[in-house]
Amino acid sequence: LYFTEIKDFANLEKKVEEKLGINEVLIVPCNLEHSNLIREIGRVAANYLRRLLRTGDIIAITGGYTMSQVAEMMPFCDERYENTIVVPGRGGLGEEVDIQANTIAASIAKKIGGKYYLLQVPDNLKVENISLIKDEPSIQKTLNILGKANILVHGVGNAAEMSARRGMDQSEIDDILSKGAIGEAFGYYCNLDGEIVYSTPSIGLSLEEVENIGTVIAVAGGEKKAEAIKSIISPKYQDVLITDEETARRIISL
Ligand code: G3H
Repeated sequence: LYFTEIKDFANLEKKVEEKLGINEVLIVPCNLEHSNLIREIGRVAANYLRRLLRTGDIIAITGGYTMSQVAEMMPFCDERYENTIVVPGRGGLGEEVDIQANTIAASIAKKIGGKYYLLQVPDNLKVENISLIKDEPSIQKTLNILGKANILVHGVGNAAEMSARRGMDQSEIDDILSKGAIGEAFGYYCNLDGEIVYSTPSIGLSLEEVENIGTVIAVAGGEKKAEAIKSIISPKYQDVLITDEETARRIISL
């Protein structure tokens, strides 16, 4: 059991909204050790998603530890959203099963009484295999649904950490970092100015699709995320950021 301070972050939230150019920032207090902090960010994100939910929504989600906490903290809904679908935004087999997008999609769908689709492909595909795999009917089916998503909830990764976690070899990692990659989200790596410097060969959401999704919610906080958030979040794609106080202060100082 832990308690969070009640603090008024309205001013700080406004400053981060202005700095990143997005509509809404929600901040959780920082008086928690790392895993409880991420859990708290997950809880706020889950409740935000819960309030946003309408029957018929198609919710795309990504993987990662933070997103796994969104699923964990998602309340069971009395109202069952039978016509609502949760779908992974990218392939992502390879990481620990608990933090894979497929697992998170299934878990959120069960909590809300909705349906889920899976994307049973690794994240780092050989470029020559992508079009072949895309043609598989079961993959096609999921990609069609994904293309109709109206909500996206995604994590933001630190580029150095994510490239290593995605099993890239050292020369690839060095290459990405030498291009100035700071942050990563759904397979795209950006420098501090928000320019895409690399994208992982994968199957899933394209940037054009992300741009057309009605509500895009980024969920990230804790050490090492401020620069990554600054590099990834752009008014072109995101609408909402859920983070913590210290990360918020670091973002406005960048
Ligand atoms: O793509 C971003 C990462 O999945 C974020 O990962 O929540 O485990 O730090 P994390």
